[in-house]
Amino acid sequence: MNQAAPAPKENMGNPVPRIDARLKVTGQAGYSADLPTANMAYGALATSSIAKGSITAVRLERARKVPGVLDIVSVGDMDGIDKPKFGNTGASSIAPLHDKAIFHDGQIIALVVAETFEAAEEAAALIRADYAEETPSAGFDSRGTEMEPAAGKSPLFKEDVKAGDFDAAYAAAAVKIDEKYSTPTQHHNPIELFSTTAVWQGDQLTVYEPSQNVTGWKAELARQLKIDPANVRIVSPYVGGAFGSKGPMTARTAIVAVAARRVGRPVRCVVSRIQAYGTQTYRAETRHRIRIGANQDGRITAFAHEGWEVTSRPDPYVVGGTSATGRMYDYGSVLTHVSLVHADRNTPGYMRSPPETPYVYALENAMDEMAVALGMDPVEFRRVNEPQKEPIGGKPFSSRSLVKCYDQAAEAFGWSKREAAVGSMRDGDWLVGMGCATAIYPTAAAPCAARVRLTTDGEVRVQCGSHEIGTGVRTVAAQMAAERLGIEMDKVSVEMGDSALPPAPVSGGSISTASVCSAVLKACDAVRAKLFAAAVAEAGPLAGSGNAKLEMSQEKIVADNGKSAKLSDVFKTMQIGAIEEYAEFAPKGSSPEALKKLYAGQSEFHGGDQDKDSMKYAFGAEFVEVRINSHTREIRVPRIVGAFAAGRIMNTRTARSQLMGGMIWGIGQALHEATEIDKRHARYVNRDLQDYLVPVNADVKQLEVILVPEIDHEVNPAGVKGLGELGNVGTAAAVASAVYHATGKRIRDLPIRIDHLIV
Ligand code: MOS
Repeated sequence: MNQAAPAPKENMGNPVPRIDARLKVTGQAGYSADLPTANMAYGALATSSIAKGSITAVRLERARKVPGVLDIVSVGDMDGIDKPKFGNTGASSIAPLHDKAIFHDGQIIALVVAETFEAAEEAAALIRADYAEETPSAGFDSRGTEMEPAAGKSPLFKEDVKAGDFDAAYAAAAVKIDEKYSTPTQHHNPIELFSTTAVWQGDQLTVYEPSQNVTGWKAELARQLKIDPANVRIVSPYVGGAFGSKGPMTARTAIVAVAARRVGRPVRCVVSRIQAYGTQTYRAETRHRIRIGANQDGRITAFAHEGWEVTSRPDPYVVGGTSATGRMYDYGSVLTHVSLVHADRNTPGYMRSPPETPYVYALENAMDEMAVALGMDPVEFRRVNEPQKEPIGGKPFSSRSLVKCYDQAAEAFGWSKREAAVGSMRDGDWLVGMGCATAIYPTAAAPCAARVRLTTDGEVRVQCGSHEIGTGVRTVAAQMAAERLGIEMDKVSVEMGDSALPPAPVSGGSISTASVCSAVLKACDAVRAKLFAAAVAEAGPLAGSGNAKLEMSQEKIVADNGKSAKLSDVFKTMQIGAIEEYAEFAPKGSSPEALKKLYAGQSEFHGGDQDKDSMKYAFGAEFVEVRINSHTREIRVPRIVGAFAAGRIMNTRTARSQLMGGMIWGIGQALHEATEIDKRHARYVNRDLQDYLVPVNADVKQLEVILVPEIDHEVNPAGVKGLGELGNVGTAAAVASAVYHATGKRIRDLPIRIDHLIV
């Protein structure tokens, strides 16, 4: 590869193809449920048919008679095992099989283990339970829900933010809006199904399961099973879609491990797509009320954002995006408040760009409404309210290139050709609308370790317990090592997705590139230091060059005095065949316990709005054209242009892919995605990819990504802002604004569908 041979020095930033692309497209990449294990038994879940109440009896007789059934683990069989916990590592405190309480439809009531997958499925389908059933609350507007403020209730929610006197400023504002917005229930539908494979060898447990957090899961699973974490290994070499769904561990993992111990064989449980809707996390529905007040000149003086989110009965899951929306513009005064609504549902969880996506959708839709109310161009309206400092704590932004993003995206999109009047643009039968919105995502990093080995033949092996969830982190880690060690990419291999490797943080919150690359960089620098010392030593090939500046390039150590030495010659003088170095990276501001926590599977994030010195965020601007058929009201999105500034871009190809994928998901949020709920039973209805709509290629026409150059030395040593979640923040609001521009109909409840536009 690299036949035009760019010097390895220039590796970072190149559009290097994924190092695992060939393995993936030829089916050789081993996903967790593909990995062969001898003597495997197969598991299948039976789930609750009610949403609230308790189990009085589980009837297993018919299931036990199915030929090939080895065992059934059911209610009461988790004795001696600790219950799951809700938090960043555990998905929910709901403890199926531990006790008889039913908290939601689709809760696990048994796991059948059989000789074959088919036998297990057949038997699981024959399991019935008797219940003492109560009337469930399905969600917002259902009777029996309980509402409480998020602040102080959830470990995941920081605080309601405030500045100035909102009430007074809003009352005095010349122009104001007060509107409500909502986003629907949305479910993760990764193409790789959820699965757990548990293998015991003596007291050693290995679990193969797609995961974004192998180190965290190792600790959590050991806690539940009450065994030494040193005896637990989580393996997740490739992940076929995660987006938060494989971040926290669910109750199933320990159940499968218990079953495998009981039958004395490895057990593999692949969860059906239908069952995943009730046994995994998802994005629960949200509601918003936004009030904005401004002067006639368009300067905002008052901003209030109230949010409501549905969660399960016992767990306070909350995304609470008001930390970002409350700091987005120069508001003058700010008031925010987030509430939880407990219903009889499974516990929600992170889903791509979790705090920002629903909240920024509401904010940016409201910003467009406000621009209309003021008679201002929506881009100009945002420019006028661009802050010098964030309005809550008065901190500066480490960098903020939002205006540049708007300028470049507007130019590429041809925003100047937009006719402002609603309904004024038309192409034959098609009403044309154009809209825009801001994208924002916090930039953070967490402690991470890595091991790098370089051999005399110039082979590099990078080991890091991070996760290739499709972002390309394996590739950028390889690029980092190739650049620092002066080795071509095809000689670098990267091992990830195994808790036996040096620990890495959860692959969530867009932190992986910054965290992993910083650790790999440090390990490479330790390798370099050893080589350089040997090279300039008395017996070394660069003896006498002690004062020269040294670099590594093309398997050589190159001094700025013109001398150079082959890598193999330096190794020869050291009389070794390889150097292996281990490094730990902790971001600036890390607590003294941060590294200890890393090994215990807890990720300490730094950045975003949490740092004392500055606000660390990546920004973008998205412009969307919609076309709406004047007869049928069919909605099409022929064009999206997004410009994004996210610090140093490690690989323009994988970065572009992330941003494109984000914007495409944004089309889905705007027009397609929604989990429908049967309110009487608190049951999800459209639990498959036939009825749960997502955008396909035909829904996406032109998609342009502009990477706006940005240098930010404050965010982390690598200068990287994460961008895995940035692209799908803002898209839905831009679509909603474009629909308004085309039709004059302001749709505040997602998804926007034909029926919204017919009446
Ligand atoms: Mo992401 S929702 O932080 O995996």
